[in-house]
Amino acid sequence: MPSDSWTSDQAYEPYIGRWSRLVAPRFLRWLPARPGAGWCDVGCGTGALARAIVDGERPRSVLGVDPSAAYLAAARGAGLGVAVGTATALPARDAAFDRVVSALVLNFVPRPDAALAEMRRVTRAGGWVGGYVWDYAEGMQLIRRFWDAATALDPAATELDEARRFPLCRPEPLRALFATGGLSDVDVEEIVVRTRFADFDDLWGPFLGGQGPAPGYCVALPPERRDALRERLRGTLPTASDGSITLTARAWAVRGRVPDPGPSERGAAVLRTAAALAISYAGSVDDRRVAPGADAVTALQGFDEALPEVGVDAERTLRLLHEVGGPATVASTGARYFGFVTGGTYPVALGSAWLAGAWDQNAALPVMSPVAARLHEVVRGWLVDLLRLPADTGIAFVTGATVANACGLAAGRDALLARMGWDAQADGLFGAPAFDVVVGERAHSTLSKSLGLVGLGRSRVIVVPADDQGRMRADRLPASVGPVLVCAQAGEVNTGAFDPFDEIADWAAGREGWLHVDGAFGLWARADPGRAELVAGLDRADSWATDGHKWLNVGYDCGLALVRRLPDLRRTFSTAAGYLPSADPQGAGGFEAMHHTPQSSQRARQIELWAVLRTLGRRGVAELVDRSCAVAMAIAERLRNGGLTVLNDVVLNQVLVRLVDGPTTDALIAAVQADGRIWCGPTTWDGSSAMRISVSSWRTGLDDAAVAADVILQCADRVSR
Ligand SMILES: Cc1ncc(COP(=O)(O)O)c(C=O)c1O
Repeated sequence: MPSDSWTSDQAYEPYIGRWSRLVAPRFLRWLPARPGAGWCDVGCGTGALARAIVDGERPRSVLGVDPSAAYLAAARGAGLGVAVGTATALPARDAAFDRVVSALVLNFVPRPDAALAEMRRVTRAGGWVGGYVWDYAEGMQLIRRFWDAATALDPAATELDEARRFPLCRPEPLRALFATGGLSDVDVEEIVVRTRFADFDDLWGPFLGGQGPAPGYCVALPPERRDALRERLRGTLPTASDGSITLTARAWAVRGRVPDPGPSERGAAVLRTAAALAISYAGSVDDRRVAPGADAVTALQGFDEALPEVGVDAERTLRLLHEVGGPATVASTGARYFGFVTGGTYPVALGSAWLAGAWDQNAALPVMSPVAARLHEVVRGWLVDLLRLPADTGIAFVTGATVANACGLAAGRDALLARMGWDAQADGLFGAPAFDVVVGERAHSTLSKSLGLVGLGRSRVIVVPADDQGRMRADRLPASVGPVLVCAQAGEVNTGAFDPFDEIADWAAGREGWLHVDGAFGLWARADPGRAELVAGLDRADSWATDGHKWLNVGYDCGLALVRRLPDLRRTFSTAAGYLPSADPQGAGGFEAMHHTPQSSQRARQIELWAVLRTLGRRGVAELVDRSCAVAMAIAERLRNGGLTVLNDVVLNQVLVRLVDGPTTDALIAAVQADGRIWCGPTTWDGSSAMRISVSSWRTGLDDAAVAADVILQCADRVSR
């Protein structure tokens, strides 16, 4: 039997290409339109259908797939990508396209059911699969008349007649193929085109091309039989007076939709994909460079695209995020990130955040989320207990310590002014009575930002000198008579040192004072009984700021603003509107977050805090703090023994080191960062560079301390040579 193979575009074009080109746009008009769709043309040949898609359908992309490289070379063109592949092994991932079509191919593949299954695989839910085939039995007159003539002369040719060979090319078999292939909305339609040949040679010539069943049979005949066939065929054709011959060609088009499981199941698939990708990231984080390499950062160009006119499939979007974004992350959830004071994220923090995200609760008011209001109360109670704060301490959840500081400072400001008979919320600060603001010399830079934000001024402060560890010197507190807002610190960002709270509180008490403590990470030391001395007097403050996202290892963003008397937050942040339930001053109906924070709508940060606190328990938090401090001390010890200068008393989770001098230390930091196994950042201490090592991830243990010390000492060795 002559070959069915279709590989040469020169032979295909005059024989079938010129007619199939007429069918393509009509077929496309019949498919449900979707501008911006991603298309795949299976068995694209010379690209008649694929080009009609490019020209008429405003596609996002078109991929032509064919086993023949020669066809693909002819098909390739503007807006049309090509790839070698077969109908039963398409080079595309699942659900990659919105429309998957094939022209005049389905009857040629050995297993049309397998081809259809493959086409369905690469089509997204709700997308369409379609195609068309010639009606060899009747409507494709050129081929019909050829086989009628051939079998009249040679009964054996009946075997080759495509009408016999391709029973699929009829409406019912096509419909059955698509319906049993699991497609919905299956439909079949006839498409008839006129085929006009200038003369008999125009019609006969392509049969001599040898490609396809009929030409293959034709060229295999001995010359005299071929001549006989030619004349027989000529006699059956309707030839006009000008010699032209007009026939018609009928194709059967078929289409079906990949069932769409509906928004719930589609959403579930998106979430499953996200979970799988997140789990794969989490599982690989320790095998990666801690800071991404230059290649991964350069590859972020993968995000540089114009806003898509028509939305892109959600799962594909997640995969892009994973593939391009994941490698360019800083592996701060791993065990060997010692930068800033960042912290990782406990699995239960991430997991509860996923669940909370699925709930999408607005925690602004109890009426909007009873569960958020309840968990707020539970977490408040636990934290007051764990951190040993006054029993009525109120807590509001905000974005981070910077905003938590601003909340405490604003509450203090308004409370002090209220005592002086001034309503700062009503009348603002213009003309308000003055009071002093006192800060330590080594207050965190963001405290200054918070002071500016609440109108107290970044520079209009009395700065108290610090000692060699960055602690505020109580003996240098000013002779201010008050009222005064004093900002102390639990955990200096370089040294981890704590201000002398008892002495500061004593000083403030005699001066109509409001004592605020920035304890972004250091406040958690209150949970570790072994560090009681460090944190003595901390409970005497009026307000505190801390973070969940640093040392407690919940995800970003999670800050905590705490006040000794909840009404002090309410005075500053309550609001009223006709459509809002009126603010309940007793908070009897549950905590009204929007009346105690700068935000109105807000996510329920307490959910992650609750999950982590419950999973760790009192003992777990204490162990977390103690373990981090032990790691910091172990690193400091090794570095000291290795010849580096440890600049701080390592009382907490911060280590401050210098190698020889500032410039050598800068070189050390650069070498450590380039090494990639760990990451530490720079700071300035006593006027020259130092390296900060901050231990705040739940995953970091003594093994990691050894790795960190090894890396730093190896790098120190290299830069000192
Ligand atoms: C002492 C101190 N205060 C405030 C902040 C600011 O915290 P956030 O980045 O959560 O706003 C930090 C951050 O490192 C800090 O260490």
